[in-house]
Amino acid sequence: MTTAAAQVNAPAYVKNTKLIAWVAEMAALLQPKDIYWCDGTTEEYDRLCAQLVAAGSFKKLNPELRPNSYLAWTHPSDVARVEDRTFICSARKEDAGPTNNWCDPAEMRAKLQTGEQALFKGAMKGRTMYVVPFSMGPLGSDIAHIGVELSDSAYVAVNMKLMTRMGKGVIDVLGADGEFVPCVHTVGAPLEEGQKDSAWPCNPDTKYIVHYPETREIWSYGSGYGGNALLGKKCFALRIASTMGRDQGWLAEHMLLLGVTNPQGQKFHVAAAFPSACGKTNFAMLIPPQGYNGWKVTTIGDDIAWVKPGKDGRLYAINPEAGYFGVAPGTNTLTNPNCMRSLDRDVIFTNVALTPEGDVWWESMTDTPPARLTDWQGNEWTPELAKQTGAKAAHPNARFTVAATNNPALDAEWDNPAGVAIDAFIFGGRRSTTVPLVTEARDWTEGVYMAATMGSETTAAAFGQQGVVRRDPFAMLPFMGYNMSDYFQHWLTLGSKLQASGAQTPKIFCVNWFRKGADGKFVWPGYGENMRVLEWILGRIQGQAQGVENAFGISPTYEDINWNGLNFSKEQFQSVIGIDTAAWQQELKLHDELFTQLSYHLPAELPATKAKIEQRLAA
Ligand code: GTP
Ligand code: SPV
Ligand code: MN
Repeated sequence: MTTAAAQVNAPAYVKNTKLIAWVAEMAALLQPKDIYWCDGTTEEYDRLCAQLVAAGSFKKLNPELRPNSYLAWTHPSDVARVEDRTFICSARKEDAGPTNNWCDPAEMRAKLQTGEQALFKGAMKGRTMYVVPFSMGPLGSDIAHIGVELSDSAYVAVNMKLMTRMGKGVIDVLGADGEFVPCVHTVGAPLEEGQKDSAWPCNPDTKYIVHYPETREIWSYGSGYGGNALLGKKCFALRIASTMGRDQGWLAEHMLLLGVTNPQGQKFHVAAAFPSACGKTNFAMLIPPQGYNGWKVTTIGDDIAWVKPGKDGRLYAINPEAGYFGVAPGTNTLTNPNCMRSLDRDVIFTNVALTPEGDVWWESMTDTPPARLTDWQGNEWTPELAKQTGAKAAHPNARFTVAATNNPALDAEWDNPAGVAIDAFIFGGRRSTTVPLVTEARDWTEGVYMAATMGSETTAAAFGQQGVVRRDPFAMLPFMGYNMSDYFQHWLTLGSKLQASGAQTPKIFCVNWFRKGADGKFVWPGYGENMRVLEWILGRIQGQAQGVENAFGISPTYEDINWNGLNFSKEQFQSVIGIDTAAWQQELKLHDELFTQLSYHLPAELPATKAKIEQRLAA
């Protein structure tokens, strides 16, 4: 072993000199008490979980009810992504664009690394630095990319084991001179000599989620939660990967990937972008409802897709992740049986409630809540108390972490490095009004327009006010690594290139499961019943299903949808598909506001498409 390797405690199998040098440099900056290299074995996972139990960070759930599973409760300041603390530090402000927080890279480096009071200096004091090598995408595949996360959180290390291909195998692929994206993460809570640790260490006051797109680096400070801390996910596979995709001609998208097989045995692949907590996991695990004998939906991914043009002119997609970090509240055996079965065992739950028997519970998991629970903040919870105070047993953004291999509906191709050929793109927000159940774009440009102008009501997945409509282009607003207008152009250019090569681009659709009636309730039953919309979409792809043109695209009439097995009246359908001209005139003003905000580099096709919609709406 070289001295450098020995200094950072690297196992003999680590040959990458750049990696060793970087770990040494970071250790000098962060000053951890020791360094541990994750090998990704089950033995290691079990050991780290046991360590988290001993530290009071994890509760081991009752093995008879929920084998091999754990529960973590976070600090109340650390429950979701922090969008206002997320930065894209490109050299030029214009390259981050108006939708991102930008900071000059030199200024940010001074704040984090080099300045007198630099936050990362000594940030890991008293803690172990875990070296977590991971692959986004199948190990060794030429579309996969490797990252190495340095973290002082064992919670992060075990979550990364479930969410990515993690450990020694990645180091082997890296070899002596392979490239990796360096990801530095600290909870920002150094421990002094003799200081007692908290169950969920984090920095309640100071958080930074920082990306340097040019040098492809990620620096995360102060949070241990989800996308803030599991740096392979939003930081790498979306923000950094989107800039890689811009430079190399591919797409990194906030999309689920599903396979759908019809009774004739034909299989299609669909990629769908919905904003955070707007139904990707549910759609990806859909079980066709009554009346859909012989249909099957299988999951390839539930959150992120990397999409690349193939030699045949088609678009191929892979899921770069290996697990799900999904929303618990709202999940139950009626809405998502596949998900519930995935959660039978081997799960890390975060911020759900604990039952007296040592199992978990969250809002709407069962019709009748348990008589008593311990809520996610460790307080006594009863249904009566909840009625009085409105207290939630689980945090609305409570989540589960589980390996994809636990999913009974996992697609046979989920791990295929070649990916699956995409037949349709779907975009959909959470809109209680205005946006119809489903609309097909007449062409690629109209589809890009639909995606670019998509609005959605904010959810608990991010800090901030909830239920307010904001524009969330392509469901990527919080995840774009570069200028949003350049990204629109990237989509348009890709479409033109594919079409110029003689290929047919996938059809693009826009959906909305979330329109509400006068009673404030969702009109559309959603979940498994979304199969009816999916069937219409497939019918359109095959040139079989009918629809009618409207101002925005093509939507089905009542007769164009298969209602076998569902009572849904023409009036109800009208209330989810109808277009209210006045509401749409208002909506188009919001598109205008977006285009004003994004005027720098905004592709001319978008305002041109808007003008056509306005004309049709006025006609
Ligand atoms: P992220 O992991 O945050 O990116 O979210 P996601 O898009 O995967 O959302 P998910 O499928 O976890 O759903 C979020 C919430 O929306 C859950 O509470 C679901 O129960 C609810 N939901 C999902 N699909 C539907 C639907 O078709 N109709 C209704 N009404 N609610 C839904
Ligand atoms: C999202 O917010 O879109 C998520 C959860 O998928 S997190 O990984 O925390 O970003
Ligand atoms: Mn997501």
